[in-house]
Amino acid sequence: MADARFLYEDHELTFPVVEGTESDAAVDISALRGKTGLVTLDRGFANTAEGQSAITYINGEEGILRYRGYPIEQLAEKSSFLEVAYLLQYGELPTKAELDEYEESITRHTLLREDVKHLFEAFPHTAHPMQILASATSALATYYPDALDPMDRESVDLGSRRLIAKTPTMVAWSYKYRVHQPYVYPDNNLDYASNFLRMMFSVPAEEYLADRVIAQALNMLLILHADHGQNCSSSAVRLVGSGHANLFSSIAAGIHALSGPLHGGANQAVLEMLHQIVKSGDDLDTVIKRAKDKEDPFRLMGFGHRVYKNFDPRARIIKKAAEEVLTSLGVDDPLLDLAMQLEEVALSDDYFVERKLYPNVDFYSGIIYRAMGFPTDMFTVLFALGRLPGWIAQWRELLGDPAAKIFRPRQLYSGADTRDYVAIDDR
Ligand code: CMC
Repeated sequence: MADARFLYEDHELTFPVVEGTESDAAVDISALRGKTGLVTLDRGFANTAEGQSAITYINGEEGILRYRGYPIEQLAEKSSFLEVAYLLQYGELPTKAELDEYEESITRHTLLREDVKHLFEAFPHTAHPMQILASATSALATYYPDALDPMDRESVDLGSRRLIAKTPTMVAWSYKYRVHQPYVYPDNNLDYASNFLRMMFSVPAEEYLADRVIAQALNMLLILHADHGQNCSSSAVRLVGSGHANLFSSIAAGIHALSGPLHGGANQAVLEMLHQIVKSGDDLDTVIKRAKDKEDPFRLMGFGHRVYKNFDPRARIIKKAAEEVLTSLGVDDPLLDLAMQLEEVALSDDYFVERKLYPNVDFYSGIIYRAMGFPTDMFTVLFALGRLPGWIAQWRELLGDPAAKIFRPRQLYSGADTRDYVAIDDR
């Protein structure tokens, strides 16, 4: 591909264009500052690729999402979450023997050290589950000093498996503490989703069998959330990892980044918004009017995406699943009807059409989580559970890349000019 040519003052500058495997291409401006003294200004990195990644392909114009080349629709229908976790980590779908070995090693690491319970018990019962999960993930590092060297491939692999194995236990145990119920230990005979559901919802006094429909839907939702390129939390994970912080610390940073309502926290915010609409008695035209009003901080949560400008393929799958799961469970949730009406009204409004704002992954997922029995403030934790293999894969990709550098963006200083210190009595 031809070099890119830019004119600056009276010089013509050329920069190489790097091609991706699909139709993507990027201008490599690494030499820009050296040649001109200029840096680039790109709010929110909307046009900036920090590096190259071979994990996830997204085409926002056409609504395409693929993990390692495999379309999300096929993985959601046919795969299991642990198979997808393997695919993201190692780049290929596992053979039967490889998958057996991977699943076996994940199930062997599901237990937490007994003293980790004290950590959950140190939090107030009202603590947000994302805050607890980030803290517990960070704390895990202190139990596994053998897995902290980011340059030791074997210990990184072990640390990755431990994280994927122990996160459902951490999430379920923090919930059990909060609802004053006994901790339920993992059952390694169960698949990943069923084991998690059992740790969440069973009590030792009764037999518990995870509902097939719920377990399958959870498996699918985890797959749909498993990776999404250089989003806010994955970039946070890579950024922290770029300074060679250990895997656990980097993942804890990702969990914090995910918690915000513009990112993963949107699934909780959608449900709260739907409840608020019902409570206020506002009609949908009023709601849409508020979402469009720049003076009003209200936004239609679960709508819009930095990359998708046509539709979010995950939202399409989740919407269909929401209808199927609720029907199959015999749940008649008025919030699902409200969400569908809201989508219809928004999609026929010029404001949303012109700005290409469509429902995203978070718009319908909460309705399914609610039908499964999860409290609203746990929705983002479920997103984190799904995104974990993606974060780990992103971190490992960066740390294994000989061309990787510490992330250190430039800035355009816009503060005060130099001035002399003034003694406190003279100010
Ligand atoms: N409701 C009303 N207006 C919106 C919305 C919305 N949900 N989203 C974007 N807009 C408007 C925005 O005001 C702006 O209008 P204008 O051009 O007149 O200034 C225009 O659309 C472009 O929006 P932006 O904020 O510049 O776009 P962005 O790419 O920086 O932000 C976003 C993307 C997802 C943060 C944003 O669409 C948003 O806040 N959505 C609601 C929160 C949400 O659902 N987040 C989940 C994202 S998907 C999963 C994930 O990443 O975790």
